[in-house]
Amino acid sequence: MFKLPDLPYAYDALQPAISAETMRLHHDKHHAKYVQTTNQLCQAEGLDPGSLEALIASSRQPSRRKLFNNAAQAWNHAFFWSCMSPRGGALRGDLADAIDQAFGGPDGLKQKFAAEGEGHFGSGWVWLLAGPEGLKIQTTHDGDNFVGVDGEVPLLTCDLWEHAYYVDYRNERGKYLGAWFDAVIDWEFASHQLATARGGSAPWRYPAPDGEAMRRTA
Ligand code: FE2
Repeated sequence: MFKLPDLPYAYDALQPAISAETMRLHHDKHHAKYVQTTNQLCQAEGLDPGSLEALIASSRQPSRRKLFNNAAQAWNHAFFWSCMSPRGGALRGDLADAIDQAFGGPDGLKQKFAAEGEGHFGSGWVWLLAGPEGLKIQTTHDGDNFVGVDGEVPLLTCDLWEHAYYVDYRNERGKYLGAWFDAVIDWEFASHQLATARGGSAPWRYPAPDGEAMRRTA
């Protein structure tokens, strides 16, 4: 069974950018439901995946869309919580250099990241990725992500689903993205991901499933 990871901070830690009400609803209801449905689908199919990453990579075909959507959303939300921190952290070192090169600096990154996220039609995610040609920004629809996609390592993501911002910002997605960028990004996490992309350390992974529990209930 995959477990719902605890938030790495208190529900109210990201206020005022993101309210405790949003965090409680987002983590305890939305994220929990994706994890629960992933486990139910695995049990129904008799699957015993060794990792959520392996499950996502093996379920990208259209016939397994429901499993992919739920597994990817379980992964995306856990990654999203890790991209944020009340302490923030400084943008420096290799990541600052790469952002200078790709976007002309943090202001350029913010402008493009917020514009891409605000302009994305419907639900999805906006990502800062490290690829073979440097950093880039890309959006994905619904639960789609870059797990198992060669050469693309996510450094940051921001949730574009309305449940992520409607309580705090109503329909103003651009305002939410601006506040998110300014106040809650964990730059140390993003730096770690960049080091991963360059082969220096282990990538972020979803907590391993409890195999015994999954086998008992399969
Ligand atoms: Fe979400």
